[in-house]
Amino acid sequence: MGTDIKIAVLASGRGSNFRALAEATSDERFPAETVLLIVDNPDAGALVYASESGIAAEIVDCGKRKGSMTPESSESMAEICARYEIDLICLAGFMRIVKGELLDRYSGRMLNIHPALLPSFKGLDGQGQAIEYGVRVSGCTVHFVDKGIDTGAIIIQKTVPVENDDTAESLSKKILGEEHRAYPEAVRLFAERRLKIRGRRVFIDDE
Ligand code: GRF
Repeated sequence: MGTDIKIAVLASGRGSNFRALAEATSDERFPAETVLLIVDNPDAGALVYASESGIAAEIVDCGKRKGSMTPESSESMAEICARYEIDLICLAGFMRIVKGELLDRYSGRMLNIHPALLPSFKGLDGQGQAIEYGVRVSGCTVHFVDKGIDTGAIIIQKTVPVENDDTAESLSKKILGEEHRAYPEAVRLFAERRLKIRGRRVFIDDE
């Protein structure tokens, strides 16, 4: 590893978190650099920002089964990440469960962002689930990725209030603003090697 760690972002869609990470890490004082975008979908909006900002992008076909990835695609992503000397993978709206070679190789070095306060409202549409359930507070969670769905050790959570007139859409918007702050913060802590995982708990070294 050089002084700055190299990040790959995996996305399937719009890519606003990819953009937030790329912008934050483009500051030369930030101890990490976003060098690669991998998408499973050639129509992903994230590709537009990658090309505008000169970040390398790769498209990997992950197979027809929604939400899952083929062993070959996992191997191919692992190879691509090795080629770019990636130290940390950030999932940002990547709509498949990561498993196989990629997860094995990047265990402890792969993060995800989820639009709810885990362990509540795992899986799809965390914001809609929160509205349906009637919670007064929701938010986002950045966590390590493990074999489960949204079950890995939690690094950072940020909260937003849920008001009477909130809908899944308005709540998503509020949460997204917090996501764009939380993800770079978590990545910075990782890059500064300040995160220590003990069991389910992540301890943050303060300096
Ligand atoms: C975000 O809400 C993220 O928490 C979830 O998927 C959404 C991706 O949005 N995992 P974007 O593509 O980063 O704009």
